Amino acid sequence: MTPELMAQGTQAMLAHEAALVARQHATESGGRLASFSRVHTPGEVDVTHGRILYLEDVSVSFDGFKAINKLSLDIAPGELRCIIGPNGAGKTTMMDIITGKTRPDEGRVFFGSTIDLLRHTEPQIAQLGIGRKFQKPTVFEQLTVFENLELALKTHKGVKASMFFRLDSAQTDRLAEMLHTIHLSANMNAQAGTLSHGQKQWLEIGMLLMQDPKLLLLDEPVAGMTDAETERTAELFLSLKGKHSLMVVEHDMSFINTISDIVTVLCDGAVLAQGTLDQVQADERVIEVYLGR
Ligand SMILES: Nc1ncnc2c1ncn2[C@@H]1O[C@H](COP(=O)(O)OP(=O)(O)O)[C@@H](O)[C@H]1O
Ligand SMILES: [Mg+2]
Repeated sequence: MTPELMAQGTQAMLAHEAALVARQHATESGGRLASFSRVHTPGEVDVTHGRILYLEDVSVSFDGFKAINKLSLDIAPGELRCIIGPNGAGKTTMMDIITGKTRPDEGRVFFGSTIDLLRHTEPQIAQLGIGRKFQKPTVFEQLTVFENLELALKTHKGVKASMFFRLDSAQTDRLAEMLHTIHLSANMNAQAGTLSHGQKQWLEIGMLLMQDPKLLLLDEPVAGMTDAETERTAELFLSLKGKHSLMVVEHDMSFINTISDIVTVLCDGAVLAQGTLDQVQADERVIEVYLGR
């Protein structure tokens, strides 16, 4: 097969994928999309209702134990939301539900006002623009910092398109900018395996950002970092606010204090309290279950 034919094949595949996505968003009755009179592009996140993420009455049980119990919560576009709560509160399970790793028994989970995440698989949800950072860093230790970022860009293009992938100058610029953002410009040719724990966490965050997620979920990102690394991470997150929507689960109160606007306290799989850090820290119920006296 000639390269031209292969490229045509890739184009056809992409068109086919786009048609599939369009079909997923069509209404069952064959009518227009549920976006009233607004023009809505399938696959685009509709945030005209002021919400990028919306959970309503979500519950999930594991062997009869309700890990998430009628959880309702929403996040505004560009918001940096902090989630705190005792161990076992359901914070990680909530992220599992949003990203399609765990299916809830009941409830609604929407990305924007039109994308029903419960009708999408885990890889589809990632493709829609929800990135997730797990607790442990998962970078490719044998590759350099630069190669890890490059790979993140390629992977996002899909396997077929990545066969023809060459960094263009805009992408090279973006990669250099990302290295700067995550404080790893000086380490770009270092093997990822030689980085400190904090640097690996930054690299993984950079890899997620290369895919330009609309919503980024981060589970205990500063756990195990030095104080200096934690401070730099706070700066990084503050710089992301507004450009991306972020949901950050953390136990480090001084970190939360630096980055937070609204803090949601989870307990027993539901929202116990919500407000500024000062407000929730003064809440008797929060002190009781989480902060201690
Ligand atoms: N896959 C699972 N199977 C059984 N129990 C689970 C599973 N995932 C989480 N749990 C339970 O659900 C509860 C909430 O866990 P988790 O979401 O990890 O809490 P957090 O992240 O707030 O510490 C815990 O009691 C945990 O043991
Ligand atoms: Mg957890």
